[in-house]
Amino acid sequence: MADSGVLLDAAERLTPGELAELQLRRLRATLRHAYDHVAFYRHAFDSAGLRPEDCRSLADLPRFPFTTKADLRENYPFGMFAVPEAEVRRVHASSGTTGAPTVVGYTARDLDTWADVVARSLRAAGARPGHKVHIAYGYGLFTGGLGAHYGAERLGCTVIPASGGMTARQVRIITDFRPEVIMVTPSYLLTLLDEFERQGIDPRSTSLRIGVFGAEPWTEEMRREIEERFALDAVDIYGLSEVMGPGVAQECVETKDGPHIWEDHFYPEVVDPVTGEALPEGAHGELVLTSLTKEATPVVRYRTRDLTRLLPGTARPAFRRMERITGRSDDLIILRGVNLFPAQIEEIVLRVPGVAPHFQLRLTREGRLDHLTVRAEARTGATPEQRAAAVGEIALRVKDEVGVSVAVEIVEPETLERSVGKIRRIVDMRGQAR
Ligand code: DLL
Repeated sequence: MADSGVLLDAAERLTPGELAELQLRRLRATLRHAYDHVAFYRHAFDSAGLRPEDCRSLADLPRFPFTTKADLRENYPFGMFAVPEAEVRRVHASSGTTGAPTVVGYTARDLDTWADVVARSLRAAGARPGHKVHIAYGYGLFTGGLGAHYGAERLGCTVIPASGGMTARQVRIITDFRPEVIMVTPSYLLTLLDEFERQGIDPRSTSLRIGVFGAEPWTEEMRREIEERFALDAVDIYGLSEVMGPGVAQECVETKDGPHIWEDHFYPEVVDPVTGEALPEGAHGELVLTSLTKEATPVVRYRTRDLTRLLPGTARPAFRRMERITGRSDDLIILRGVNLFPAQIEEIVLRVPGVAPHFQLRLTREGRLDHLTVRAEARTGATPEQRAAAVGEIALRVKDEVGVSVAVEIVEPETLERSVGKIRRIVDMRGQAR
């Protein structure tokens, strides 16, 4: 975009040398702060025989121990706080499917930083002061709603704090208030899309021009589907509560080539997800993040379980990009020895004519063998021939592209569960009698 040069903030214009110097200074301060104020980090560094000052260059960071979700759980609720509780202005918690939630805290300065990185993200997405931003990420302990909210205000936008759910009302608000920007999970956007159509409103006729989608994996095929059906630019926002919330990384609208990581606040590494070994730049593996400026809950080498790789910066040359998340190690399905992520099935389902972007993966066990059934919805108006052909085509493509046999069922339109936030793609029935 012609005007992006003028709008960049100081950090976005750093040279590689200046960025590295800033990162090292902030990293050393973070290690010191964590060591001095969080018993967990003190023990972890001591056990590794390390002191914060042993980090003399960025290359020393991999010598420091990882932090995992289990570590955060074991210190539930406030054991990871590095400041007195009274200095914590807000807490968020990530749901997690099992066990205690993980709790994160923010000082006033942390909230300020967060608003800054989300404002920077929105600007990279193409939002501008004066735009109206409809926020349909859930408000509450989840970081999506409030994180997006303060960032949009910081940029100078008008916020419509819709939160998740009450889909018919969301459609009405979008129609009447005419926001230019929407922030929502891609799966809930599809729910909204259905509702527009149910109400007889052409989604392409809405005021929405920019969609900032994240909190769950989505694919290039989904981008095409959404952009075409809504006539907007769809970009990817990444983040996680343990590290901050939305706004850790953001895709730029002018290149749409994966999120740039805001490296002045979050330092990325990619490691082998099994051995934890550092991988060379550009290799696929698990993203590990270290916060560089967080006061309340600093994280050192946090294992995100998100799989990606680091790429050179493009639209924001100061910062590296991450490839769109292909999957979380938690969502990995190992089917008869073959690794499979829901996103791979999304790619395939969306390329088959007559099939809607709604699908579920049902895992069952017969005898000692696991079976996977891809259950996908027919598009409204799909012919019986298209439906029959889709069964064979999906099975064939999965066999060809993923290398495993699956069963396929095409179900009636509007029968699969719809998302109001993060969608659950995998239904694991292996523990159940059938
Ligand atoms: O989902 C924060 C967020 C809110 C990000 C709104 C973007 C937009 P958690 O609930 O802690 O926080 O979940 C974090 O969600 O580790 C990824 O597995 C996944 N995730 C987040 N953004 C993306 C994305 C928020 N753009 C977990 N693509 C992360 C793929 C994503 N997965």
